[in-house]
Amino acid sequence: MSVHRRRLWATGIIGIALWTAVTTLSSSAPEALAQPVDSDRSATTTNALRPLLPNEALTLQPFLSLREPGEIGAIIGHRGDSQAAPENTMPAFASTAEAGAEYFEIDLRLSSDGVPVVIHDKTVDRTTDGEGLVAELTIDELRSLDAGSWFDDSFAGTAIPTLDEVLAHAAAGDAGVVIEYKGAWSATEVAGTVEMIQDAGLEGEVITQSFSKKTVANIAQVAPGLPVGWLTKTIDSSIVATAQKIGADAVNPNRVGPRGVDLAHRAGLGVFVWTHDDDPDWAALTSMGVDGIITNRPGALVEWMLRRA
Ligand code: G3P
Ligand code: CA
Repeated sequence: MSVHRRRLWATGIIGIALWTAVTTLSSSAPEALAQPVDSDRSATTTNALRPLLPNEALTLQPFLSLREPGEIGAIIGHRGDSQAAPENTMPAFASTAEAGAEYFEIDLRLSSDGVPVVIHDKTVDRTTDGEGLVAELTIDELRSLDAGSWFDDSFAGTAIPTLDEVLAHAAAGDAGVVIEYKGAWSATEVAGTVEMIQDAGLEGEVITQSFSKKTVANIAQVAPGLPVGWLTKTIDSSIVATAQKIGADAVNPNRVGPRGVDLAHRAGLGVFVWTHDDDPDWAALTSMGVDGIITNRPGALVEWMLRRA
């Protein structure tokens, strides 16, 4: 059993213990995270992920499960371990796995010649020594840039990763990948990345997400077995209905309260919350039963979870 899998088992056991302790505290969760939500639950009847359909071209298996209040969710390093190493680079991803987190999150864009590359901004200006739009630079031009020195001289020479490179790294390691597709991706463009995920043998180790409804719908259509989350500001009944309509498996809010998590779970949708870095937020979100927390401090969150247990 890999370290990753052992940790999943361990967190499951810890979760049961924590659930007992925390459910009694859930009513005192900080209100800072709670948002008013529509309490209409008439359309929600299940408390499990909707069945994920088989796909002729895809053999990815469902692996998400919905948490109960107090149960520990997955720990996801935002852009990798982005406080320890330059965001969206291989050192940041390696550091996330070393910290014991289950997943690292990456931001995906296409180069001008159609290669999926990992970088957050539309331009290379902030996180490299170059200038210009990612979509107007070739893969060779992007790969020649230094994506590490802006963070610290010790990372000089670090390159912008390709999706292929990141998937190979994940396949050889213990952390899975949460892929955020930036902007609107066509079904054809999505299909190219799904093929890469399959080729890397990462069935069951990848979750996808996007702010773009069109992209979420295309991922759901092209790869029904690949979990996809819709990124939102919060959760209410209208957002849950839209998430279901576009075929999402999860709704991933920035801020949420217990009622929002309950609304999503009753609709069979997972909840992965971004981006929270402090103990009070982690305690509140765990008490609500969110399915994952995206954080810039994955190592600290792992330690917090273990301390709580
Ligand atoms: O994982 C969600 C979060 O990454 C979305 O915001 O701007 O950091 O990509 P951003
Ligand atoms: Ca992101």
